[in-house]
Amino acid sequence: MSGPLILGLETSCDETSAAVLKAPDTLKGHVIYSQDEHALYGGVVPEIAARAHVQRIDDVVDRALEEAGCVMSDLDAVAVTAGPGLIGALLVGVCWAKAAAFALQRPLVTVHHMEAHLFAPSLENPEAVPPFVALLVSGGHTLLLYVPEWGTYHLLGQTRDDAAGEAFDKVARLLGMPYPGGPAIEAAASRGDPARFQLPRPMLRANQRPGDDDFYDFSFSGLKTAVVNLVSEIEADRSLDPDKEDIAASFQEAVADVLTEKTMRAVEEKDCAHVLLGGGVAANGRLREALAKRLEPDGLLLTGSPRLSLDNGAMVARAGAFRLERGEVASLDASADPNLAFPGLVKASA
Ligand code: KG4
Ligand code: ZN
Repeated sequence: MSGPLILGLETSCDETSAAVLKAPDTLKGHVIYSQDEHALYGGVVPEIAARAHVQRIDDVVDRALEEAGCVMSDLDAVAVTAGPGLIGALLVGVCWAKAAAFALQRPLVTVHHMEAHLFAPSLENPEAVPPFVALLVSGGHTLLLYVPEWGTYHLLGQTRDDAAGEAFDKVARLLGMPYPGGPAIEAAASRGDPARFQLPRPMLRANQRPGDDDFYDFSFSGLKTAVVNLVSEIEADRSLDPDKEDIAASFQEAVADVLTEKTMRAVEEKDCAHVLLGGGVAANGRLREALAKRLEPDGLLLTGSPRLSLDNGAMVARAGAFRLERGEVASLDASADPNLAFPGLVKASA
């Protein structure tokens, strides 16, 4: 393939990442620096994140170029996450990309972070092409989409409060586990009994019908409150320690259950058994297993390795390649937008 050579930059949260991609999907170099500066605080501190991006970005790009065996002047375009995310963090990547695009006199492409997550599986899986139902689950978003073609995204449902990853992070914190909570909960859950505690499945009723407001929507804050109550009940008369693994497993099961059920509703209603799973929570083995099992024998779960499911520059370069191909080049006065709208997203009619 002889597509353009694209540099992809991701700095929207706490990963500083750069990738060199030969469009559309040949990854030549890819470096991800996960900031460990936040561990002490139990969550991402925006100011620290921005400063850490400034300190790392030159080195991260240099290493990605070196891995790809090329230099800046070989690049045909620079793609960068412009939002959504933390404004200070986003600005580091956007300013860097604008300076590079200007100096090289190459096109600048701004990318929506969640569209990048949507493209990530296609870097590893040639079958990850529309039409499919997509479940995008990250620390900031929970989106259920129907994707008839790249660039057209029908919004079926989304969270009304906490995102799925945010729920993992909050429950991990309650259980005294480190940030990010997802991997910690998953590790503890692998030693626990998922049936030990009956936790609620919010927004999941058997008599919901397509067209009902809550048919596809999610809510995770009630589930978190149920865990808060369970933890205080236990701690009122004994140590939490012996029950932590069972709580983690019961919580993970509740999240996987709700996400899987709602995704399967979309599979049925859209008569489309290809499901793309993206975003950091897609790294969760139990969720993958639950979805893959429900899709058997005719369906297909399209997802990437955990490395490409979590925030990374490769997915930004991949989504950038798509936007560039459509001639969507940003001007050099483009800026970061913490609330950037998902391009091509339309509310699906019931
Ligand atoms: O996509 P991502 O890297 O960053 C955002 O765009 O937010 O997702 C990070 C989220 C965090 O909330 C983290 O706890 C969660 O993904 N996560 C997981 C796992 N690995 C990361 N959640 C469940 N299980 C995992 N193995
Ligand atoms: Zn993300």
